[in-house]
Amino acid sequence: MVDPRLQVVAAVMSAALAAAAAGSGQFEFQEATVDAIQLGFRSGSLTSTALVRFYLDQIARLNPLLRAVIEVNPDALAQAARADAERSASGGRCAGGLHGVPVLLKDNIATRDRLNTTAGSLALLGSVVPRDAGVVARLRRAGAVILGKANPSEWSNFRPVESGWSARGGQTLNPYVLSATPCGSSAGPGVAAAANMAAVTLGSETDGSILCPSSSNSVVGIKPTVGLTSRSGVIPITPRQDTIGPMCRTVSDAVHVLDAIVGYDELDAEATGAASKYIPRGGYTQFLRIDGLRGKRIGVPAVFFEGYDDVRAAAYQKHLNTMRKHGATVIKDLDIATNFSDLYDQETLLMKAEFKLSLNAYLSDLLRSPVRSLADVIAFNNAHPVEERLKDFGQPDLIAAEETNGIGAKERAAIRRLDEISTDGLEKLMREHRLDAIVAPNSDASSVLAVGGYPGIAVPAGYDTEGVPFAICFGGLRGYEPRLIEMAYAFEQATRVRRPPTFKR
Ligand SMILES: *[C@@H]1O[C@H](CO)[C@@H](O)[C@H](O)[C@H]1NC(C)=O
Ligand SMILES: *[C@@H]1O[C@H](CO)[C@@H](O)[C@H](O)[C@H]1NC(C)=O
Repeated sequence: MVDPRLQVVAAVMSAALAAAAAGSGQFEFQEATVDAIQLGFRSGSLTSTALVRFYLDQIARLNPLLRAVIEVNPDALAQAARADAERSASGGRCAGGLHGVPVLLKDNIATRDRLNTTAGSLALLGSVVPRDAGVVARLRRAGAVILGKANPSEWSNFRPVESGWSARGGQTLNPYVLSATPCGSSAGPGVAAAANMAAVTLGSETDGSILCPSSSNSVVGIKPTVGLTSRSGVIPITPRQDTIGPMCRTVSDAVHVLDAIVGYDELDAEATGAASKYIPRGGYTQFLRIDGLRGKRIGVPAVFFEGYDDVRAAAYQKHLNTMRKHGATVIKDLDIATNFSDLYDQETLLMKAEFKLSLNAYLSDLLRSPVRSLADVIAFNNAHPVEERLKDFGQPDLIAAEETNGIGAKERAAIRRLDEISTDGLEKLMREHRLDAIVAPNSDASSVLAVGGYPGIAVPAGYDTEGVPFAICFGGLRGYEPRLIEMAYAFEQATRVRRPPTFKR
């Protein structure tokens, strides 16, 4: 038995040593948060150049195994040097937000620079985008460093490829358990964030593509209300559901990124115009409240918690108790009154037509491109069956989309039905029980959130007996980001589940 007084002495000494290390200019790169990075910039113990070098080194070391990154930005170090110069010139005043912070982008987010934007497909290699994506333009204005492009499941997930596989990037692996799926389609950003290959990352979601890989890789993913972040310059699936959001190691980091990327964009005018009323004055960091669970009403739809193994069921039970202990009212066994097969049928029907329309619009807007239409992409894949693994995956969804003919009677009926499903399902449940959020494991609520354009935040919730991460997702109605952030942050601080990856074989 160790004398408790000695433990106290040891704790005081290690705190003092840590403080001394910080003072003597040693920055802890592993697991560095945006707050720590800003502090490092201000105190002079860190430069953006050193930070970029660290992540480039991590990528060089880990990417041959994990394949989370498709391209690194040849201009990243120059951008870092510029950020460092700006910071010195301003006397440290511009060390805030994402200034000088390296950001990794999913490869469906366009950059007008030396990086390619391909959704992981060889078909788009050599295409030239007319301009930065709306979210990238915001990142650049904030002074962020564009570190590179992360591996997606090709065509986001419209081809039924393996989670995290793309012809250009290969197969992304899960850094916790190499044989476990990293999930998709934002596998690269999730894995890169988890394995400290970037400070922060951006993913995109149509139905589960942020929430699922965030869950599988023990990172925090925010899937914003549709329209809160611009989709202009992002290789699309459907404008009704596509949304761009952060995937980071902490809720606080994700919120810093969210603050940098939300807002109106004239190139995605209707959606960003409608959602801009949700953006709070003063931004989102004010909702990083340690008491953020107090007074919240949290609903637990029974359908999402059926059939979980003992480890997970016990973890979720414990987490619900933690939420109660921190002042939330947790209402269990709720019925979300949603016919899921109807929802998937309507969602799929509509998505096929909208994918063709929106992809064709994206491709025709490119300055140069080997493919100009969905039909060209299908022909390209047929001409490159080995590289595009046609035998394994085929391209049935691309072909089915090509057979659609715009928004006709069937599609309009699907839009009406999906609106009803949202109104009579999640919206009714939340209003009747005056809920601030529902919770669900991993991305299990993603379709309900997707078809209504609703937000969700995945937060690490545990590791199964094999060491594979799992998460809990807080979901709400459009514009509920402030209270979801409060709950997610308070939950994260109360549970502190995330630990760095273990690379288990
Ligand atoms: C973009 O793709 C071209 C063609 O494969 C390649 O030569 C170039 O290096 C790529 N750009 C980057 C930044 O990796
Ligand atoms: C759910 O929707 C499907 C159509 O996708 C329908 O066949 C089925 O009867 C519905 N189930 C219920 C319980 O209404």
